[in-house]
Amino acid sequence: MITLENIFSHWVTEKYLQRSGIYHAVTVAETAFSMAREQGVDEEVATKAAFLHDIGHYEWYTDGEWDYDEYRKHDIHAIKGAERAHKLLIRLGEDRARAKEVALAILLHTDSYLPFSVENERTNVQDIVWKADTINEEEAGRHHYKLMDKQEAMARLQKLDESIIAGHKSEVNVQ
Ligand SMILES: [Fe+2]
Ligand SMILES: [Fe+2]
Repeated sequence: MITLENIFSHWVTEKYLQRSGIYHAVTVAETAFSMAREQGVDEEVATKAAFLHDIGHYEWYTDGEWDYDEYRKHDIHAIKGAERAHKLLIRLGEDRARAKEVALAILLHTDSYLPFSVENERTNVQDIVWKADTINEEEAGRHHYKLMDKQEAMARLQKLDESIIAGHKSEVNVQ
């Protein structure tokens, strides 16, 4: 299995996940994992997509100043994130079907950039990623600025990996 630890250790993740914050990525991944386990939805897809959901954020400066309003108006981070995460997962050797599912969940984790709503149109796993993100959002985007050091993030991701692997093993035992 391509683990969250493998994903977190890759330079692409290191480079792009910083922008929206490791704290936000890890907490959304934990929420998505719990929801997936509770609902009997694919835990691996839900957790990977949740961890990478904001990897498409980019920086938007006007005359050297961060221009948040301008950024929001033209933001397509869900599209960029879906593509970026897909490329990263394929490079790591991820199963193609799973890489696609993760990419689609990232693409639809928000519909603010679309001319139509996708509410009630999401699959179960897509719905979990959207909800896990929404639950962890704070006013004025504060969730993007909370800090978590790398060691703590790695420890929490390893715990999630262990839970996902344990889940796979129990699936095999049931069959
Ligand atoms: Fe987002
Ligand atoms: Fe987010």
